[in-house]
Amino acid sequence: MERQQIILGIETSCDETAAALVADGQHILANTISSQVDLHAIYGGVVPELASRRHVELIVPVVNAALKEAGLTLNDVTAVAVTAGPGLIGALLVGLSYAKGIALARSLPLIGVHHIAAHIYANWLVYPQLRAPFLSLVVSGGHTSLIQVEGHGCYQLLGSTVDDAAGEAFDKIARTLGLGYPGGPAIERLAQEGDPRALSLPQPVVKGQPLDFSFSGLKTAVLNYLNRLHQRQEQPNKADVAASLQQAVITSLVERTLLAAEITGLKQVALAGGVAANKGLRQALKTAGAERGLEVLVPPPVLCTDNGAMVACAGYWYLKHGFTAPLSLNATANLPLGSEQAWGKLGEKKDSAGKSG
Ligand code: KG4
Ligand code: ZN
Repeated sequence: MERQQIILGIETSCDETAAALVADGQHILANTISSQVDLHAIYGGVVPELASRRHVELIVPVVNAALKEAGLTLNDVTAVAVTAGPGLIGALLVGLSYAKGIALARSLPLIGVHHIAAHIYANWLVYPQLRAPFLSLVVSGGHTSLIQVEGHGCYQLLGSTVDDAAGEAFDKIARTLGLGYPGGPAIERLAQEGDPRALSLPQPVVKGQPLDFSFSGLKTAVLNYLNRLHQRQEQPNKADVAASLQQAVITSLVERTLLAAEITGLKQVALAGGVAANKGLRQALKTAGAERGLEVLVPPPVLCTDNGAMVACAGYWYLKHGFTAPLSLNATANLPLGSEQAWGKLGEKKDSAGKSG
């Protein structure tokens, strides 16, 4: 019997220090996440410098906790996969440097993973039957993108936000409403008690780019509404604001995803990213997709928000395809999607240069 491939996945691109052990790209042996939410909550958002420092403190205990939970040691690990971008540069460097240290000390392959790709791989983790090409909607605090996944490590960007990300719109409005950080879960909770038609909000379109998103107009409309009430010394009905905002964001996401499916002819849609934890979005996309004969895949919420298991799953498939990275790999705050294949080639060059020299 072939030996199991156990990948250690490390994620530190923003405010979660996360490590996971995944066997053969689908069996989660441990998925440890240490959230920094309490640290950043008083500031209403992530403070990059504080995030990096907290990752430095937590990375060793979090990896050790994951190994302990899985009942493994580093001797059992086949390769180390790590988010190399995009994200907060200081935060990324902590996870990457630690992953490099393990790879170097244990002579293990190092695999760099793009954060958006990792979110998409949460679907492959849960639905190993998923076959490319398929469509993915990635919605998080930093990204809102429609992607045609051509194969492992092979992505075509169909559309993305031209301004704020969907999660960012939730976070900013939640902060104004005094709901704390992160805003998405708070908006979702409050929205359950509100009327989604209470505010008439715009559905911004990007001229000539039907698959692109724009959320800043929506955010401004809500802020203007709140300011008008404030001037009249009236209190907003926060539940109505939350429900209306959530509905407007969901409508924008679902409409463009359906259009992308129609244009590309793709029949499978994989939802990903922190905002994919939102019940309203999950349900709306499933219902609208089913009406059009689309299969909508949605990972459980804990695999939608940042975690190490999705990174490990990507690492498993990248290793299979030879997309390993050289130990000179650097973190990149605005890393382009699909960089992993090029790192594989860099690794090859280095190896052959090493051998001949
Ligand atoms: O993917 P993620 O954990 O980190 C980034 O890569 O950004 O996504 C975090 C974002 C935040 O904006 C957060 O408010 C949002 O996802 N989020 C949600 C929910 N849970 C997290 N938004 C709406 N509803 C939720 N249940
Ligand atoms: Zn994320």
